[in-house]
Amino acid sequence: MSRPAPVRTRLAVLATGALLALTACSSGTADAGGDTGGGDDLIRVGFSQLGAESGWRTANTESVKASLSEENGFDLNFVDAQQKQENQIKALRDFVAQDVDVIAFSPVIETGWDEVLQEIKDSGIPVVLVDRTVDTTVEDPFVTWIGADFRQEGTTAGEWVAENAPDAKIFELQGTLGSGAQVDREEGFDEVVGDQVIGKASGNFTRAEGKTAVEAALQAYPETDLIFTHNDDMGLGAVEAIEAAGKVPGEDIKIVSVDGVRDGLQALVDKKFNYVVECNPVFGDQLAELITQVANGEDVPEETIVVDAAFDQTITQADVDARAY
Ligand code: AHR
Repeated sequence: MSRPAPVRTRLAVLATGALLALTACSSGTADAGGDTGGGDDLIRVGFSQLGAESGWRTANTESVKASLSEENGFDLNFVDAQQKQENQIKALRDFVAQDVDVIAFSPVIETGWDEVLQEIKDSGIPVVLVDRTVDTTVEDPFVTWIGADFRQEGTTAGEWVAENAPDAKIFELQGTLGSGAQVDREEGFDEVVGDQVIGKASGNFTRAEGKTAVEAALQAYPETDLIFTHNDDMGLGAVEAIEAAGKVPGEDIKIVSVDGVRDGLQALVDKKFNYVVECNPVFGDQLAELITQVANGEDVPEETIVVDAAFDQTITQADVDARAY
């Protein structure tokens, strides 16, 4: 895997005109598409976040912004793509035009990145992939990736079902179709209990769309007695739909979820969820360290897996109250 030149080396080879432009930029001129500032010693990072669709994403954004702060040595240009790939592609092209030191992004879906990844590669700017994964024909499209093992999360959820609800008739509430989180969680879960899944639909990782998908599922598959939801927000939407249909979530219809945000764990304490596999969004500090190493041309691991836990209904209110997100 090729390594980027250190930040200072890259700055040194810039032509005088470009260096002047960079100075103008770092003395406060606003870049299109996001906030910027900072000085020459800061590592200039363009971060394309995929959206603000869930409690998980909000916690992840807070963690990233807190760690990639000016006090920590970063000049962060953070752009929210509102779950639209075209917005992400535009932001990535802007980062290339701004000649940032490192580009980091969390891709909304896996495919469709070939052209822009090739453009970034041609620019020589290193890419750090965050949270989700890409499926591309571009060789060595990123230096390193940090995120959770989505497949394992699906497997862990499936194993709980196999042990605790072996005869369940399952409706699977999928995340954004084509996203790494949806594809891998589904694969891991279905490998264990796929033969019990009687129907599937996407709720796009949001509470509102999760509710709508479950309202339709309760009509189409009235025998459903367990929902595996790819995140807590959609699971909370499912709770609303189940209650509106006169059924008891957690009893008539069990709910197995992924994420472990405070609202999801509260649903577990309230016995509306039955099991939650954690997906930890608080990895800003690890990301900051990786970006620093990449900017300095140091060796980094190809991947960093963020460690997850899992929770059942033995979780206490005190555990939920102590939750950071
Ligand atoms: O990619 C991580 C997933 O994205 C989280 O599980 C989900 O809540 C978010 O929208």
